[in-house]
Amino acid sequence: MKKKVTRIGVLTSGGDSPGMNAAIRAVVRTGIYHGLEVFGVMRGYAGMIDNDIFRMDSRSVANIIQRGGTILKTARSDEFRTPEGRTKAYNNLKSHGIDGLVVIGGDGSFNGAQRLSNEHDIPCIGIPGTIDRDIAGTDVTIGFDTAVNTAVQAIDKIRDTMDAHDRVFVVEVMGRDAGYIALHSGIATGAENIIIPETRTDIDDMIASLDEKEKRRKLVNLIVVAEGGEYGDANEIGKIIKARIPEADTRVCILGHIQRGGSPTCEDRVVASHMGYYAVESLLCGRHNVMVGVIKGKIHYTPLDKVVKEKHSIGQEWMKIVKILAS
Ligand code: F6P
Repeated sequence: MKKKVTRIGVLTSGGDSPGMNAAIRAVVRTGIYHGLEVFGVMRGYAGMIDNDIFRMDSRSVANIIQRGGTILKTARSDEFRTPEGRTKAYNNLKSHGIDGLVVIGGDGSFNGAQRLSNEHDIPCIGIPGTIDRDIAGTDVTIGFDTAVNTAVQAIDKIRDTMDAHDRVFVVEVMGRDAGYIALHSGIATGAENIIIPETRTDIDDMIASLDEKEKRRKLVNLIVVAEGGEYGDANEIGKIIKARIPEADTRVCILGHIQRGGSPTCEDRVVASHMGYYAVESLLCGRHNVMVGVIKGKIHYTPLDKVVKEKHSIGQEWMKIVKILAS
């Protein structure tokens, strides 16, 4: 028989994502609705180790649903990767009587949650919060919709000036290990080429097709690249194009962290609220050490150990579609 949870902690960890505040709000208010005491852990696992933990009430999360970033702040903690660090963190949770934890973050954060839970027998529930969308067990992650729409708006603006000057543009979007922002923003802005870490790109083929387009005077060509692409960053790809097609007027733009900030879209706020609610319900009904995801519009629970082992994959057929649509 599982112990009843009475005091829960909530934290955000890893890269922040727009909508994390909406998820915190949902966790706090659902917890209070069920008569739980709710504690905020500042700066993710780093704050847990430093005992930077405080009691939250309904008002602590007022007027935050529309704000990007995270009121609990976030960090990456090397100390938490060690068993000693996790013991210190657990003892701090225990000193507040916290007997259940909601972790909002990506797979690295879930890996930490799973280790903590295995070593110290504290139930943890994951909520996928990352702009990268590269989490198994869910079709959506909090922040992706906002980030990808920020990227689309920026690339649309680049397209205006690119078109005016008949230029080739290499635009870099975020995603060190994941190409979803590049794939979606590239398709939505009519990119000629998309370079992502999940699929192989034949650079000779790409250069040949750009060259062929230059020859038939299709001078406006957009290449969207994820930061983790196999040929290096956008500057490197820009250099390759400049060296091999010197007649192309090539420019590079790195969108960077503007993609991670800003007010969350309606979609991200709703998804975050939905997942936050079910994370607390899950702790209460004894469904422990799972991540709350959404698959085909429905709430879905996946064991944390499965989430951290599996990866989302992007099928090669997408690249064929990109090529056909941009001809
Ligand atoms: O949060 C995910 C992410 O934005 C990746 O897309 C990116 O590669 C990474 O974080 C950058 O992280 P930071 O700027 O915190 O080092």
